[in-house]
Amino acid sequence: MPGMAGGRFAAGDAERRRRAQAAVFDRIGARYDEVFPHRDGQDHAVDLLLARLPAAARVLDVGCGTGLPTARRLAAAGAAVTGLDISRVMLRLARRNVPEATFLRRDALTIDGTLGRFDAAVAFFSLLMLTRRQIAGTLTRLRDVLGPGGWLALGMVELDLDDVELPFLGQPVRVSGWPREQLRAVVAGAGFTVVTEEVRSYAPATPEAEPEVQLYVLARRED
Ligand SMILES: C[S@@+](CC[C@H](N)C(=O)[O-])C[C@H]1O[C@@H](n2cnc3c(N)ncnc32)[C@H](O)[C@@H]1O
Repeated sequence: MPGMAGGRFAAGDAERRRRAQAAVFDRIGARYDEVFPHRDGQDHAVDLLLARLPAAARVLDVGCGTGLPTARRLAAAGAAVTGLDISRVMLRLARRNVPEATFLRRDALTIDGTLGRFDAAVAFFSLLMLTRRQIAGTLTRLRDVLGPGGWLALGMVELDLDDVELPFLGQPVRVSGWPREQLRAVVAGAGFTVVTEEVRSYAPATPEAEPEVQLYVLARRED
């Protein structure tokens, strides 16, 4: 596969890939929320999570995008939200949309203890921008920044692809995913117990984006 050497990305390739993916979302910006305005499945997944969290929980939002709807919903429920993203434009929108949250320009691949400890992590349609190997590694690192019994809410598109370029809102973007049974196994393999799973068909608001099958997984850190 292009960009791979012995199954691993060379550092320069990883940096080029990160820049290309960030540039895609810098160009998409606010249009993302216009094409995906209704997020019932995502909101429901956040509500399932909130019902299990303590008051003022610390929540990490990985690939937070514009902060809508998730960081805003979490913050409105009293959570202390830290959002991270690689796109400067998405982060600018997020800071405007959810001023009470903290937003950092940071790659999901660099998640570690320097971010602090969290009661929960959410990652909605962001990890699918990584390779399969990177997604599995990121889930393991997320497990490590959660406290004992910490929660993970994950949203993915059901795909059977590893790092394949597809058009997304007129931009070439590299995406990965698994069929639902395999995704469940990957989450479990990273040290989580899957608590709930939902499969939803999603129709974007405009023909610019294809209908998709979305997978929502709520999982708890195994201790
Ligand atoms: C499809 S959008 C989803 C945004 C948001 N989570 C939501 O549900 O609306 C994916 C987001 O992930 C971000 N992203 C892509 N690769 C990333 C990475 N390696 N680290 C952090 N964020 C990343 C993009 O910049 C973009 O904002």
